[in-house]
Amino acid sequence: MTITINHEQNEFHLFNKDISYIFRILEKSNQLEHLYYGKRIKHRNSFAHLIEREVRPSCNLFEGDYTSSLEHIKQEYPSFGTTDYRYPAHTITNHIGSKLTNFKYESYEILKGKPTLEGLPATYVAELDEAETLQITLVDQLLNCKLILSYTLYNDRPIICRNAAFQNTGGETVYINSAMSTSVDFPDDEFEMLHLSGAWARETHIETQKLTKGIRSIYSTRGASSNVHNPFLALKRPDATEHFGSVYGFSLVYSGNFLAQVEVDTYNVTRVMMGINPFQFKWKLSPNETFQTPECVMVYSDQGLNGMSQAYHDLYRNRLVRGVWRDQERPILINNWEATYFNFNEEKILSIAETAKQLGIELFVLDDGWFGERHDDTSSLGDWFVNKEKLPNGIKGLSNKLEEIGIKFGLWFEPEMVCKNTKLFKEHPDWIIKTPNRNASHGRNQFVLDFSKDEVVEHLFILMDNILKDANISYIKWDMNRYITEPYSNSLDADQQGEFYHRYILGVYKLYHKLIDKYPEILFESCAGGGARFDPGMLYYSPQIWTSDDTDAVERLKIQYGTSMVYPLSTIGSHVSEVPNHQVGRITPIETRANVAYFGTFGYELDITNITEQEKQAVKRQVAFFKEKRDLIRSGYFYRLLNPFESNEVSWMTVSQDQNEAIVGYYKVLAKPNDKYDRIKLKGLDPDKLYEIESTQTTHYGDELMNIGIILAEDFTNRAGEFWQREKQGDFTSSLFVLRAVNP
Ligand code: DGJ
Repeated sequence: MTITINHEQNEFHLFNKDISYIFRILEKSNQLEHLYYGKRIKHRNSFAHLIEREVRPSCNLFEGDYTSSLEHIKQEYPSFGTTDYRYPAHTITNHIGSKLTNFKYESYEILKGKPTLEGLPATYVAELDEAETLQITLVDQLLNCKLILSYTLYNDRPIICRNAAFQNTGGETVYINSAMSTSVDFPDDEFEMLHLSGAWARETHIETQKLTKGIRSIYSTRGASSNVHNPFLALKRPDATEHFGSVYGFSLVYSGNFLAQVEVDTYNVTRVMMGINPFQFKWKLSPNETFQTPECVMVYSDQGLNGMSQAYHDLYRNRLVRGVWRDQERPILINNWEATYFNFNEEKILSIAETAKQLGIELFVLDDGWFGERHDDTSSLGDWFVNKEKLPNGIKGLSNKLEEIGIKFGLWFEPEMVCKNTKLFKEHPDWIIKTPNRNASHGRNQFVLDFSKDEVVEHLFILMDNILKDANISYIKWDMNRYITEPYSNSLDADQQGEFYHRYILGVYKLYHKLIDKYPEILFESCAGGGARFDPGMLYYSPQIWTSDDTDAVERLKIQYGTSMVYPLSTIGSHVSEVPNHQVGRITPIETRANVAYFGTFGYELDITNITEQEKQAVKRQVAFFKEKRDLIRSGYFYRLLNPFESNEVSWMTVSQDQNEAIVGYYKVLAKPNDKYDRIKLKGLDPDKLYEIESTQTTHYGDELMNIGIILAEDFTNRAGEFWQREKQGDFTSSLFVLRAVNP
């Protein structure tokens, strides 16, 4: 890996064995020109031949020079207003109201490793020689501001992380109206844009569109990254597939309002930008202050979408998730939400926990409803005091009993919210987010606390700490069930209201930080009515996230498949729930429910005291199976094989890092009589190793399994005793294949 500078040419070439990223300093204007980003190319002493100039009908910076239009120069961090008419990466207003900026190259620095980002989640290095960071400092003399563009190149990952920071070095206040984390100009528009869209209970559905001229964006204005669009997009070449071809991924390590925008100009140049959403954003930058953007993680893959996903999985699993849980096996949990909703008492909880323990489950999670007068969703958020009618021995008493049973204890909180009939609201009515003299809209009968205020964050820390310091709690589910409306903070001046959304999410990060600092052993699972804040920012604090409130196995095929575009299995909260399923009413076999949930963190969410003996035995087997395989699932390489958005058959697999073991999930959504022949071609195996498939006890070389596939021929006798029926009976069937390398 190296960041190499062609000093005479003023060129920077960041390259490792997989990728190259090249830019230069423009001679006259000292701005930055982008030259190339993609597959690794050989280093040369000059890349001057990559400079593309043509005389075009346009406005030019310099008299007598007809090729100095920024509209026709690919840039690193463009501004608006001096010859480039496209949307810029930044906009700043100065004290005379001008929005023009002109940041000129001043200096560079190469740092070993990767600096942290003040107050923000970010990927990191464990050893300094894992990565190098290039920091380019640019200066706008008139504005009296510095711009620092950071590029971190990991040694052995096809990844560049970018962020930008603005420093006010002058005596006047300026206002930042937009500050993207990254901006890349590609020379053509031969791309399809892939992103993850959805809604509550149908998160991360894959959408793909061909790029056309104009702007296409995904974004959030909701105060959270949201389930509508995930802060991720990929540009794939039209011929790129799941496993072949060129794909560029962009993923923002941020949990608030974001914008990911692709602009194709009239010359087919494609500009991709990603960062905090400029809509409603305005940051006051007083003298001597710095504004730091979140980071954007850019992946280039020449092995299709799966190659991109694996790069994200590996980075996020090992260098975004932190703390004691990063490399540890995660406990198999049972959550009481779908089992009881708000209607439980200690006896019921203990009976669930006891049965769960008997079946091998390791952690009991007490969900919503344990505090205040919370008997439904109309009350009590903010009153984080135990409800003694439901739990007469308190949280501490319950935790003691769970300890006696021998099961760990997890607890649900929704710290960012308050209901009106609470002590918290009565004492601090001015802590909710609302605009003065306007209606405050409710969502699920609750209001959002103004986390941009330090005292709110501090107070919530004390309330949560009071519970945590007393009882033996090893897991917290941090929920967030509504978006922000009527954005405004009564602690910010009028000219700082544009800071509100960003300050809110910084407050959320602050509370996470304080809790993790004091309770490093607690495993956090973030949640936002399912996956409304499933983003890399959250993963920095919570190693796993509840993926969706939709626990139906068939719906989960799409949701988990989409989520896996960016996020590793170790982060994907997945539970076996009861049937008929509570969200869609579908009845699926318990094996299929488990076969889907295995490809995630795995747990249960049903009244386990109320299932048949046969089902209990199934649960016992599943738990034992997962315990044996969870390390492989957490740390293996994940391959998507058959796409639920395109076919009735779905398949995926995970392969251990040493390629000695693999687990393949295969799902058939609807049964079809006398259907086509089915085979699943596997990926990621060692072609020369001989693998035994556990269920069939047959052996196959890796090359056969990857080129011919597992032949799924199955013969069943139908009810009439005839032998022509080859289908497994019923819809929603599935098979799991466990492969192990054996001696030939
Ligand atoms: C939404 C979550 O996604 C559910 O799992 C559950 O915790 C409920 N909130 C509780 O209100």
